[in-house]
Amino acid sequence: MNYEQFYARRAGGMKKSAIREFFSLTEQPDVVSFAGGFPSGDYFPLQFISEMMQDLLREEGKIALQYGPTEGSRELREYLAGKMSREGYKCTAENILITNGSQQGMDLIGKILIDPQDIVIVEEPGYVGGLGAIHSYQADRLPVPLDEEGLRVDMLAAKLPELQKKGRMPKFAYVVPNFQNPTGICMSLARRRRLLELAQEYDFLILEDNPYGEICFKGSPPPSIKSLDKEGRVIYLGSFSKTFCPGIRIGWMAADEELIEKIVCAKGSTDLCSNSLGQRIAYRFASTGRLDEHVALLAAQYKKKRDVMLDCMEKYFPEGVSWTRPEGGFFIWVTFPKGISAREILLKAIERKVAFVDGSGFYVNGNGKNTGRFAFSESSPEEIEKGIANLGEILREELQAREIVPCPDRRLA
Ligand SMILES: Cc1ncc(COP(=O)(O)O)c(C=O)c1O
Repeated sequence: MNYEQFYARRAGGMKKSAIREFFSLTEQPDVVSFAGGFPSGDYFPLQFISEMMQDLLREEGKIALQYGPTEGSRELREYLAGKMSREGYKCTAENILITNGSQQGMDLIGKILIDPQDIVIVEEPGYVGGLGAIHSYQADRLPVPLDEEGLRVDMLAAKLPELQKKGRMPKFAYVVPNFQNPTGICMSLARRRRLLELAQEYDFLILEDNPYGEICFKGSPPPSIKSLDKEGRVIYLGSFSKTFCPGIRIGWMAADEELIEKIVCAKGSTDLCSNSLGQRIAYRFASTGRLDEHVALLAAQYKKKRDVMLDCMEKYFPEGVSWTRPEGGFFIWVTFPKGISAREILLKAIERKVAFVDGSGFYVNGNGKNTGRFAFSESSPEEIEKGIANLGEILREELQAREIVPCPDRRLA
């Protein structure tokens, strides 16, 4: 059967991600994998969940296993409104929508905002799931590079007048300001302010995706763009996936009430409601104060792993390789010397039982061929040392074989 003739035009751009294709290779049990970017299952609070589940099912099992309101359970929305208000966005439960993970939030935003060929500003490199959701609604993605302070708002500002002249103003900008996936970079306060100013001046919205902000190793990240927003221009996405566990599939959206109402309509036809049981588990974990304690533990544990990976990169990687030094989240972004193909290194690395993600998949136009994303979240310190040492060897051999004089590409170091 040839299905091509039946596919809608928007399905044409939906391709298996190169990153996912590699996952089956990288997730073999004997491979030290820095590819996944998952939270470590070692920290899931299994004991708490197992004890709490007994109470939960006894006390409210009939509601917890029933359909629920499309916008999410009121108690969880109230809890999240309180949290967002404390973090600087004063709001009520009417401003909160519970989603099946923040990924669903991105899809719903695409569904209500994007017409084919609309322009959406994206980070380059950017989060694959966000880039994919935007692409699936047939938007034209406008990539804007990052440096160590985050989105190059100066480069964006230089592009906007031209777009305005052509009547092609962006609908929104999609950004991950805290410990970004894939680079680990945190956007400075000045850049957050400037992005918001540009959004006001050129009249576009901002989709702020923040799953990593709480996994912070030093102090706290700058205030969210949502908390700086006085006009309702920013749509914020939060998630329990990295701070609790992704399997419950609970995230949330915080935005102006009018937008939330529209998105509730879109969500109703997508899934009727989010996971009712997951919402109750998340609420009990968060409202009893356990979540805050847990996040502190996670930050301390992930910081140790980040330290080990940075130390090992320093020790084992040859001259000419550079990398970011994230203050939170799960990822380090590595730039190999010009002329080195990350994909070729990855293929050799898999043979020697170590894996990372080839960075070109995080670019809209296939750039970044000499880059890679390294997640430190899942591996043990011993595995990190073993994997990075192996990669160091491969890189040295590659540089020698190709007689490449290490010329650092320090764009994101
Ligand atoms: C930047 C970013 N946004 C969103 C998501 C999706 O998270 P969720 O599990 O909340 O759907 C991820 C997952 O890795 C992510 O890295």
